[in-house]
Amino acid sequence: MALQLGDEVPDFTAETTEGEISFHSWLGSGWGVLFSHPKDFTPVCTTELGRLSALKPQFDQRNVKVLGLSVDPLGSHKEWANDIKETQGHALNFPLIADPDKKVANLYGMIHPNASDTLTVRSVFVIGPDKKLKLSLTYPASTGRNFDELLRVIDSLQLTAKHKVATPVDWKQGEDVIIVPSVNDDAAKALFPNGWKTLKPYLRIVPQPKS
Ligand code: BEZ
Repeated sequence: MALQLGDEVPDFTAETTEGEISFHSWLGSGWGVLFSHPKDFTPVCTTELGRLSALKPQFDQRNVKVLGLSVDPLGSHKEWANDIKETQGHALNFPLIADPDKKVANLYGMIHPNASDTLTVRSVFVIGPDKKLKLSLTYPASTGRNFDELLRVIDSLQLTAKHKVATPVDWKQGEDVIIVPSVNDDAAKALFPNGWKTLKPYLRIVPQPKS
């Protein structure tokens, strides 16, 4: 069965462009993003990896490690990295798994046979410090991802892991949030002593708590 939110993500050992990685110990006590791209030396993937390299400091700031994967071999990844730097202006600065035998791709259900028998789709898994799956996304090969959106979601995941709030549509860091329905008004008084705005009994708006 496909990985579901809240599942502990499978551990594995794999060859990467930065040496062998044992996934759980590489993650340590922080957050992680594991993502697949269909193939090296392809146009959309080249733009994605360049953009992710540009955004890497923002993942670092959030204590999130980034790990990519495709079913191409290590030599191909290393050669392709030159093209990413040349065409996107950012050198690859996170490890890419070489998974020619599809061990990790199959473990994570990254191959969707009705899309392709041989290549991975564009999967994204966000993993929390407890090694549990917090978010998964699946894009087809023809659509490049928006990694700013991934950072936005990670901000929400990290905030809502700490506070009894949820984030509304299109929320961005610093904007007002919602008190979760499981917190009644009495409990909310202790958690949010400066008060909140009640639009409906189930829709209570409060400034974003300080982390
Ligand atoms: C791409 O990255 O451009 C791509 C990869 C596989 C299929 C289609 C597009």
